[in-house]
Amino acid sequence: MVREGGAGRGRDEGIAYGNGKRGTDKSKLIIVPSVYIKTYGCQMNERDSEAVAAQLAARGYSLAASEGAADVILLNTCSVRDMAERKAIGKMQSLAAKVRRQRPKVVLGVLGCMAQSRGARLLEQLPDVDLVIGTQKFHRTADYLEEILAGKRDRIVDVEAEAGSEGTIKEHWPPGHGGAGGAAARPVTAFVSIMQGCNQYCTFCIVPYTRGEERSRTIADIVAECRQLVEGGVREITLLGQIVTSYGKREIPARNGKSGFVQLLEAVHEVEGLERIRFTSPHPKGYGDDLVEAYGRLPKLCESAHLPAQSGSDRILKLMHRGCTRERFLGVVEKLRRVQPRMGITTDIIVGFPGETEEDFEETLALAREVEFDNGYLFKYSPRQDTPAAALPGQVPQDVKEERNARLLALVNEISGRRYGERVGERMEVLVEGPSRRNAARQMGRTRCNRIVVFEGGKDRRGELVELKIERAGSFTLYGILNSK
Ligand code: 5AD
Repeated sequence: MVREGGAGRGRDEGIAYGNGKRGTDKSKLIIVPSVYIKTYGCQMNERDSEAVAAQLAARGYSLAASEGAADVILLNTCSVRDMAERKAIGKMQSLAAKVRRQRPKVVLGVLGCMAQSRGARLLEQLPDVDLVIGTQKFHRTADYLEEILAGKRDRIVDVEAEAGSEGTIKEHWPPGHGGAGGAAARPVTAFVSIMQGCNQYCTFCIVPYTRGEERSRTIADIVAECRQLVEGGVREITLLGQIVTSYGKREIPARNGKSGFVQLLEAVHEVEGLERIRFTSPHPKGYGDDLVEAYGRLPKLCESAHLPAQSGSDRILKLMHRGCTRERFLGVVEKLRRVQPRMGITTDIIVGFPGETEEDFEETLALAREVEFDNGYLFKYSPRQDTPAAALPGQVPQDVKEERNARLLALVNEISGRRYGERVGERMEVLVEGPSRRNAARQMGRTRCNRIVVFEGGKDRRGELVELKIERAGSFTLYGILNSK
């Protein structure tokens, strides 16, 4: 599961929304437009796309299974590395050249981070695009499309900031959440966006410029969304934000030594019927004692943590403006493992940050050896426009980045393979998510420490918590058997 240049499900690859139904609403004899949304980037982007899909479905759009069958094609974009931007631009250029030529009325839109960072300038490069929607305007997508489809406006660009936009990502798709989607379509796991923006200003990172300042939703609003999801069959919720450990920093005063984020975890924990809580991404420095201690006393809080280290060298961490030293990072790992020895720990690491010497890089290798990450997402430093690191001296040549990436990848893979192998023979609690993607006769689920397990279920066990004995470990998948006491 270590994927070069990609963290999280679907990163940089693009996931698509669609149920294949394109069609006419026969009762009214009106042709409903169909939309295809392709997503690049992180889980936040996936969640935003899901909310846009739900918004459009509520307005009567059907969700097309492919771009070939769609009246509207939207690309929800990522700016975090140059490659992600290039993929989306290339995709839009090919849509303009092929789909637009065959079907001139098709509406083409760019949403999200790249739309935000480039705004109207994007149209110079992509003149066929009709709609550019920034990260604080996803909830306006349906209105803008309506204006374009009705011929009232040719083109719309909206990348303004909007007060309260952090509270607009709340609709889910498929609408099995809430009861309408039919049992088979009901997801067992869901993401809930708890905040927007980032105030950390790491020198490599474009996110503060694409997502804006940190703004948090209220606890009541988030809990209401979680409750609704659970009523619709969801058993596991992952709370999402750029730095979730900063949740509520400005809005929610600490109470009895507990931060706003820990107060939120406690409130979500109260939701009846919810079995598991996860969150991503935290900042290592956000692991105060209140949060560490929460793992010991909130049974629904799963023992897994995605802790972005970025580098093992204090000199580089300082240049990155990470606000965390190697020693502090190791201290957090130690505290977490003390309270939950089974804690699954994954990380993000950037290789080839400007000025990174061989010695700095070796400190990163040493950190990976010392922590023994369960999984790691590795990135070659990619200069981003207007970020301080892009102007730093000592930019590292591409071949050096490649070489360091390959060495670190081999190490992280070796360690995580070993850690997976160590689980053979253990019994583990698994939440069943549905049929295995490779072999539909089997079912898949995840352990509390976030490892994928495949097993023969006998019957459909989606949504059940089962105990499995782990029989063998493949590369990043465990194989288990049921009820083998
Ligand atoms: N170059 C390479 N990787 C980056 N990341 C963020 N910005 C950059 C960049 N300019 C990585 C970080 C972050 C992850 C989501 O993407 O590791 O944690």
